[in-house]
Amino acid sequence: MQGMRLVRRDAIEAAIAAGMRRSPAVVLLGPRQCGKTTLAQGIAAASARSEYFDLEKPADLARLANPELTLQPLRGLVVIDEVQRRKDLFPVLRTLLDRRPIPARFLLLGSASPELLAQSSETLAGRIAFVSMSGFSVTESGGGNATRLWQRGGFPRSFLARSDVDSHAWREDFIQTFLQRDLAQLGSRVPAPTMRRFWTMLAHLSGGILNSSEIGNSLGEAHTTVRRHLDVMSGALMVRVLQPWHANIGKRQLKSPKVYIRDSGLLHALLGIRTLADLQGHPKVGASWEGFVIEQLLAGPRPAEAYFWRTAAGAELDLLVNHRGRFTGVEMKYSDAPELTPSMRIAMTDLSLDRLLVVYPGAQRYRLAPHIEAVPLSEAMDQLS
Ligand SMILES: Nc1ncnc2c1ncn2[C@@H]1O[C@H](COP(=O)(O)OP(=O)(O)OP(=O)(O)O)[C@@H](O)[C@H]1O
Ligand SMILES: [Mg+2]
Repeated sequence: MQGMRLVRRDAIEAAIAAGMRRSPAVVLLGPRQCGKTTLAQGIAAASARSEYFDLEKPADLARLANPELTLQPLRGLVVIDEVQRRKDLFPVLRTLLDRRPIPARFLLLGSASPELLAQSSETLAGRIAFVSMSGFSVTESGGGNATRLWQRGGFPRSFLARSDVDSHAWREDFIQTFLQRDLAQLGSRVPAPTMRRFWTMLAHLSGGILNSSEIGNSLGEAHTTVRRHLDVMSGALMVRVLQPWHANIGKRQLKSPKVYIRDSGLLHALLGIRTLADLQGHPKVGASWEGFVIEQLLAGPRPAEAYFWRTAAGAELDLLVNHRGRFTGVEMKYSDAPELTPSMRIAMTDLSLDRLLVVYPGAQRYRLAPHIEAVPLSEAMDQLS
């Protein structure tokens, strides 16, 4: 992508800057290929003093053969990319982060590994701020590009590709590389073909309730194994697992989670959807749009707490977000003019919602009932940010 114009990522940059003001170190987590290195290099280039270590480069690894000696004298900003490759750095960092006054701040980059998160948060508790990122958001991609973003997904090279064909090919390659290389690096020993079948099943199920026994039956595996596959895929930030909300109102409620393929472009690749026309004619179009909106609403630098809600009696709510202590309900409707449904009223009452936003692909905001509004995606993003 030499020479291609960089898309600005102001919200993440601001979150990193805020994290750096609060803590001597920030851990930036995001899936493979979402733009972590590009962003960190930009931040380093804009800093008066900085040092960059990319632990995928043998030369940089060698420079850190004696990490204390190398890192101790550094001032300004120190970036360590692919930090999960040298977990033994964490104890060293702990000492460096406790120096006062703070001589250097650290930006640590990792591709979504659950161990990284667990390890660093244990060793560096109280000394680090976490910022998460994913592919481009609607805001970053430019408001007029929402449909393209939905179709191609937010990975920079998929979104910016010259044609739909190139974009699709990039995503196919990404899936292949992820299965053959990244999974192993995340510590998973599941064979690539098994994980591909599992991933594809999740794609068909996207937006639905996960029944691990059913999936286990079709994969020929125990439901506990299915849960482990799911942990790997959600730890790698490929899959979103939404837990059900248990309101204390005595109605029988569901316990299984809902699953979504996080990036809509990858969802489409897994489903064999190549063009916008394919997408619009596909039976999963509504589920795809629902997952896309959920990802846009939840994948900010500081993810909100979110659930879905469903009762045995059939009432349901796609998304329940705890935003600054307020409970907002969100329904996704892939329709030109969504209307008020009985389910929306029940959710309002049973969950004592402050408000309910019905997100639809249109451009106008309009009222459906007191505290219930149909809104475009951008409006919902503003209200929940
Ligand atoms: N803001 C951006 N604008 C345009 N292209 C971008 C942007 N960010 C990243 N890219 C492109 O996307 C690709 C992946 O970016 P990058 O290497 O920064 O991601 P990463 O998260 O560090 O990936 P990995 O996890 O594989 O190290 C690169 O080709 C890069 O040029
Ligand atoms: Mg990188």
